[in-house]
Amino acid sequence: MKYNRCGKSGLLLPQIALGLWHNFGSVDVFENGENIVKTAFDKGITHFDLANNYGPVPGSAETNFGKILKNNFQGNLRDEIVISTKAGYGMWAGPYGDWGSRKYLLSSLDQSLKRMNLDYVDIFYSHRFDPETPLEETMMALDYAVRSGKALYAGISNYNAEQTQEATEILKRLGTPCLIHQEKYSMFVRKCEAGLLDVLEEKGVGCIAFSPLAQGLLTDKYLKGIPEDSRAHNPNGHLQLEEISEEKVHKIIALNDLAKARNQSLAQMALAWVLKDNRITSVLIGASSVGQLNNNIESLQNLYFSSDELVAIEAILG
Ligand SMILES: NC(=O)c1ccc[n+]([C@@H]2O[C@H](COP(=O)([O-])OP(=O)(O)OC[C@H]3O[C@@H](n4cnc5c(N)ncnc54)[C@H](OP(=O)(O)O)[C@@H]3O)[C@@H](O)[C@H]2O)c1
Repeated sequence: MKYNRCGKSGLLLPQIALGLWHNFGSVDVFENGENIVKTAFDKGITHFDLANNYGPVPGSAETNFGKILKNNFQGNLRDEIVISTKAGYGMWAGPYGDWGSRKYLLSSLDQSLKRMNLDYVDIFYSHRFDPETPLEETMMALDYAVRSGKALYAGISNYNAEQTQEATEILKRLGTPCLIHQEKYSMFVRKCEAGLLDVLEEKGVGCIAFSPLAQGLLTDKYLKGIPEDSRAHNPNGHLQLEEISEEKVHKIIALNDLAKARNQSLAQMALAWVLKDNRITSVLIGASSVGQLNNNIESLQNLYFSSDELVAIEAILG
């Protein structure tokens, strides 16, 4: 594993980090998730990403991760891993379980710590920008989370370039610099190239790219239809069937051929493609099996793209 500095901070993060959005809930097989986390750590993946609402049921991924920690990461091993969680999407009923108020963020963080049986998380995120709450309030909640020792660093996710600019300036004024931005980025979703990555570079904030495989589309999984053991087929999965259009499958097939010519799987090429931008600290992957995880880690064997390959990829993406 190689570790990149997260923005201009002191924290190093692995080039590949593991997210527990899918496959770690109470509906999933616990031992499978436990094996994925153990294998990830053995291969040098030191960063695990959660959120209050990961499951299903919401909260159960944190509860399961807490059990995995208890079974496998006792004592000083806690000091060898970076755990993040977030609040920002709907979590509980009533007016205080959603969006970006101080009330929601700080009570949610307490709940997350309890579920994972932790004293602190390494990174606490505002999961999304709240247009109704003053940004100062949301940022002050992150600042307080850090000052109270319940989080070591603050992060934001899904904020656009302008919101990020403002949020990072507020956090800087408060004395808790923004460590990291978590944004969706893959060959299929490239919104952040239009300004956000420039802001992050200018502000010295790291970027962790989530869904770098477009939830599995950028793998060899959907080359010949929609398999039963896929996220698109899973009623709890967030990959919608409408996203797998004929046009997209043609692109996936062409990208797969290009990956083969590089002696990589399509998943490996897709991860390498995101990591080629040195503003990206880490790719934040999901995996439903240890085999997928191992395949994805091997992407690090070849992160180089010739200019011809890059041109060919752009031509396919259109
Ligand atoms: N901040 C946010 O708002 C936000 C939003 C979404 C996600 N995230 C974070 O990002 C993490 C990753 O998101 P993601 O799971 O969508 O990432 P992803 O890496 O794009 O997709 C992961 C899925 O792709 C399939 N896959 C992975 N490797 C494969 C391989 N080698 N061959 C074939 N299929 C493979 C698996 O799905 P199958 O089930 O089909 O096997 C796997 O669960 C989440 O866990 C979460 O921590 C954050």
